[in-house]
Amino acid sequence: MTDTLQSQFASHFGGEGTLYAAPGRINLIGEHTDYNGGFVLPAAIDKRIYAIVRPNHTLRVNMLAADLQKQCSFNIDDPNGPTETDFRYVFGTVRELIAAGVPVEGFDAAYCGDIPLGAGLSSSAALECCFANALNDMFGNATLDRMALARVGQAAEHHYVGVKCGIMDQFASMFGKANMFMRLDCRSGEYSYHPWRTDDYRLVLINSCVKHELVGSPYNDRRASCERVAALAGIESLRDCTWDMLHSLKDRISPEDFRRARYVIGEADRVMTVCQALEHDDFATIGKQMYLTHDGLRDDYEVSCPEIDFLVDEARTSGVTGSRIMGGGFGGCTINLVHKDILERFVACVQESYLKRFGVACQPINVAIGDGARKL
Ligand code: GLA
Repeated sequence: MTDTLQSQFASHFGGEGTLYAAPGRINLIGEHTDYNGGFVLPAAIDKRIYAIVRPNHTLRVNMLAADLQKQCSFNIDDPNGPTETDFRYVFGTVRELIAAGVPVEGFDAAYCGDIPLGAGLSSSAALECCFANALNDMFGNATLDRMALARVGQAAEHHYVGVKCGIMDQFASMFGKANMFMRLDCRSGEYSYHPWRTDDYRLVLINSCVKHELVGSPYNDRRASCERVAALAGIESLRDCTWDMLHSLKDRISPEDFRRARYVIGEADRVMTVCQALEHDDFATIGKQMYLTHDGLRDDYEVSCPEIDFLVDEARTSGVTGSRIMGGGFGGCTINLVHKDILERFVACVQESYLKRFGVACQPINVAIGDGARKL
């Protein structure tokens, strides 16, 4: 893939540039907790965005999205930039790097990737992190640290794409390590690595192929519900909301906001349970919590869809240890914790039944846990 990219860069811009990569992510548990100041448990995956970048000594940025065969150019000092969302992730990253003090100048870049788009695997965070890391290297003497680069990516989404995302995806893309889940405290920024040690279980994603699209989606509405409840409780975020506090507010908030907050508080407990279970390689407990998270995301947070619910139900009846919708929601993938002895049968069955039920194929995706953003 990178050889093809090098030759596309050469035929488009002439010569060579430097190759960078940044991964997508999975998340074991801790969904919609990041923007509530809570904990998440993601890992970077072995599917990535690759970019070849070279300064061009002008104030112009020229980009080629090689997979999509699309091009775009903008001036570094143009406050508006391109209108197409794909390119706005990079444009926003450039602008936020400059705001953070990195003197970015013009460059030529070609990029491609193998992260399925719209599958909830954070291809957009990977794109931001790939460019944030490359441009910080090239123009900023690598002065910004990895957490600052993750925040640049997040700010790009907030200010230039309009998704008020948390920090989980960019964090995972910057900090990933092979075979490690990471527990991040999204309020303090403290994190720790937790090895994924098992020969018996596999993590398999099933892409519903319902396009997950957070731009202009009810994602921001979910966040607003959480912020309303926190404000009324007089706390900074739902991280500090207890069950008692929530019940005492019940008559003053809408039933919908109540359900959203109930999900978030429950999820905080589940993340802690899973972190402990991970220390003891207790996969039965991890799986049980995953199913509970799905129930909460479906019924209380209302970010699932019939196709995803079907995939989780199929997992349940096939004896899969744990399964749930993963990421922002509204489509995308389920993450499944599957014992190796039933893996083949489960994947074959779910493919057949999904096709029968919806008339479209779902897509199983094997992922390995890989390293974070880097120069290759
Ligand atoms: C998206 C956002 C993340 C996080 C998840 C839900 O992936 O980008 O910040 O909120 O949804 O856990």
